[in-house]
Amino acid sequence: MPILNRLEEARALDGVSDKLQSVVTAAVRPQRLRDVLHGTWLGHPLHPVLVQLPIGAFLSTAILDLLPGGRKAATTLVTAGVAAAVPAIAAGWLDWSQLTRDRRRVGLVHAGANAIAVGLYASSLVARLRGKTSTGKALGFAGLTVAGAGAYLGGHLSFAQGAATNHAAPDLDRLPEEWTEVCSLASVPERRTVVRLVGDVPVLLYRIGDRVSALVERCGHETGPLGEGEVTGEGWNACVVCPWHGSTFRLSDGAVMHGPAANNQPLIPVRVDRGRIEIRQP
Ligand code: FES
Repeated sequence: MPILNRLEEARALDGVSDKLQSVVTAAVRPQRLRDVLHGTWLGHPLHPVLVQLPIGAFLSTAILDLLPGGRKAATTLVTAGVAAAVPAIAAGWLDWSQLTRDRRRVGLVHAGANAIAVGLYASSLVARLRGKTSTGKALGFAGLTVAGAGAYLGGHLSFAQGAATNHAAPDLDRLPEEWTEVCSLASVPERRTVVRLVGDVPVLLYRIGDRVSALVERCGHETGPLGEGEVTGEGWNACVVCPWHGSTFRLSDGAVMHGPAANNQPLIPVRVDRGRIEIRQP
């Protein structure tokens, strides 16, 4: 859609976007809180899960508002929706702060629309509590309309721009289906990461003795080069830290230990045959 293409390229938003990115990064410092909000513990981003609660509450409110009776239930739902929006907004802003600039432009308008929507619902709640039901309903319908526009932009962010998707997964499909030689075992130094190309897919190898693990080298968060990342920890608990945004993956199995990535880094089947390292698709 041309308007969305123009939004992706709207450099005029970058000044505000960069300032807000600094504010969000400074506001959410503790790693544990960042991991909770990114959804690292969940295995995929938390924000899309949390938004179901306010959206469900607001949609249900709209249905009740169109039917006779149900005034108290509608007020309860608006209260629940506004309260549930708070953690969804926090998770969304943190995810947004780790995106590329073109995605942050769209994300900024997405967040702005949703902030207006929640403001309209908060006003709707005040009106309902003061007995001004008609005003409360009108503000609710206005909020739902704006939230719909925000959701549309959120869909564009996820499905057209690939925000919060696992960018490493497609590399797995481009690996050979049959066992394919990568290099000799002897050419891989122990307890360090090395990168070898299989076709055009970079593969991250880590070796201790005769045992080798292989991960997709492009970080699942935003395709950062894990081969340039620092290795922390010891033995098979060692992890690689992405040099771009700090996502941390265990080298033995690709498990994500710290975000912003919320998905495990894809593990590639690997074997050692007569001193040669071979890999294939899972
Ligand atoms: S690209 Fe963002 S953490 Fe790796």
